[in-house]
Amino acid sequence: MASAADVIAQTENAFFPVFTRHDVVVDRADGWRVWDTDGREYLDLTSGWGVTCLGHCHPALVEGISRQLTRCLQAPNCNLSYTPIQAEAVDRLVKAAPAALTRAFLTNSGTEATESAIKLVRRATGRTGMIATHGGFHGRTLGAASITSGEGYRVPFGPLVPGAKFVPFGDAAAAESAIDGDTGGIIVEPVQGEGGVNVPPDGYLAALREIADRRGVFLVLDEIQTGIGRTGPLFACEREDVTPDIMLLGKCLGGGFPVGAVLVTEAVSDTIQKGDHGGTYAGNPLASAAVVAVLSELEDGTVLANCRAMGELARDRLTTMQRQDPGKVADVRGVGLLIGCELRSAEVGSEVAGRCRAAGVLVNVAQQRVLRVFPCLNIDADALTHGLDVIGEAVRAA
Ligand SMILES: Cc1ncc(COP(=O)(O)O)c(C=O)c1O
Repeated sequence: MASAADVIAQTENAFFPVFTRHDVVVDRADGWRVWDTDGREYLDLTSGWGVTCLGHCHPALVEGISRQLTRCLQAPNCNLSYTPIQAEAVDRLVKAAPAALTRAFLTNSGTEATESAIKLVRRATGRTGMIATHGGFHGRTLGAASITSGEGYRVPFGPLVPGAKFVPFGDAAAAESAIDGDTGGIIVEPVQGEGGVNVPPDGYLAALREIADRRGVFLVLDEIQTGIGRTGPLFACEREDVTPDIMLLGKCLGGGFPVGAVLVTEAVSDTIQKGDHGGTYAGNPLASAAVVAVLSELEDGTVLANCRAMGELARDRLTTMQRQDPGKVADVRGVGLLIGCELRSAEVGSEVAGRCRAAGVLVNVAQQRVLRVFPCLNIDADALTHGLDVIGEAVRAA
């Protein structure tokens, strides 16, 4: 096997220089544990950036993907034929989703789900305007970047897809004021992930739903990070009993296999014509097998209940840390297992993550100062408590 130093050098020589990587060279992973090529063990509190909802290499996911791998990896004629596994994936998905979302399209990533939504809004309304939020993140392809607020995602790549207007997150009245004759939709994350784990006030989604209905625009919920159990229920919109016109999924949907989805109501779907959308790998058999495995593992509610319980444990412990060290910790927030611990100083964010890594715990930092704890949804209390203790020590020492 190549040495860790060789792997790093080869990657840095040949891969686009777009990532600021840390020096963990991953050899294998199992559940919430990861081993590097020198045999060092880490606790993964990032679940592969909010993806491995069942933990790394969960047996049901491995078994489901492996079984499909030996039957058919890509259907002949692609989506001009049918496959039983794709049928099962979309059937399970629409049955698991809020009742009014009756149709799904499978994509290869989250950003492609966002692109699909932009097209659907334009197709169905004939309007190009999208209201998005400050701090929102919807992906890095051109359309998705155009409705993502961070300037670094947009400004170097202009001219962008026109029509985006940004309003404060959590402020439904501001969203309504921004609606004009060209507005086709409002897009929000139920909880902003990349923006720093921002939880809106109670009633925000319900207020947006009411406004969208009254003003004749679509409500698009980007549940790419919040969906498939991350916040406790299967979809975060269930917390306010709100059904969007269009819902986007990704990340946890494939448990580590790259797949996203767009779900729509019958009214939206009625506006779609043959040939409007497509994709060589849309609902590819392996991706579909991953969706089937993830949804069936989440079906009986045990993993979701664990997510809620572990989320409470983590918030309690981090809140205690904040009380003990208010000079270092500004805020603790989040829902389910999407938790942010905001440090007072952006300068120490990467130092804290580095100290955690040195102590064998992998933690993510959003917006330089928000430690984001988003482990797999089936993590146990011992592992999580250990990880939080290590975070606490790193914060104290930074
Ligand atoms: C809310 C949200 N939307 C869209 C995306 C983009 O997904 P992907 O990276 O799979 O393209 C992300 C990724 O972090 C996300 O968190």
